[in-house]
Amino acid sequence: MKQVSQDVTWHQTSVSLEQRQQLNGHRSVLLWYTGLSGSGKSTIANAVDVKLYQLGVHSYVLDGDNVRHGLNGDLGFSNHDRVENIRRISEVAKLMVDAGLVVSTAFISPFIHDRVQARKLLGERFIEVFVDTPLSVCEARDPKGLYQKARGGEIKHFTGIDSAYEIPNSPEVHLKTDQYSIEQCAQQVVAALVEKQVIS
Ligand code: PPS
Repeated sequence: MKQVSQDVTWHQTSVSLEQRQQLNGHRSVLLWYTGLSGSGKSTIANAVDVKLYQLGVHSYVLDGDNVRHGLNGDLGFSNHDRVENIRRISEVAKLMVDAGLVVSTAFISPFIHDRVQARKLLGERFIEVFVDTPLSVCEARDPKGLYQKARGGEIKHFTGIDSAYEIPNSPEVHLKTDQYSIEQCAQQVVAALVEKQVIS
């Protein structure tokens, strides 16, 4: 990444985040979902998003596959590209949190270092949600047939097969999707938001 030019200065917005939160009636945070491909990140993030919508919360989901079609369409799955993928997502998510939203990001985000960087950027507004689904379960589900391709050597650098996934050390929310339903996992996330007084 290039250094920021010395001729660029940060412009303070006229409406503060506190004012936006007051208008919305809830705090703004980033729910950072992390887990293997096929673990259920997007499904759970969207189930939570529906619940938040029904509660009148202003929220939005940034999803791995979708963002890779547009903003990050130039990035692949090498370690270098994954790091850049997560860096850009973190920055975009921060802007959306600054806009007053409850943002959910659903990316594998396999490296602890990148998730720590995102946490540093967001501070106390960062809530890590570990979608803990064993590799064997993800591989049995294989919703897009990608594990089969990876095992067959058709896809290189596939997470869990020939590319690393570093599990979170102390996530704020730990979802065990092989023991609980999507609905129960979504309820667990919403309960965490209530407990943290993000929503009431
Ligand atoms: S990362 O590691 O955070 O940069 O990945 P992410 O942006 O979340 O993209 C993951 C989705 O891309 C598809 N896909 C792959 N995943 C992992 N490894 C390789 N090599 C790969 N190639 C394509 C896959 O559909 C992932 O979607 P999910 O929703 O995670 O299953």
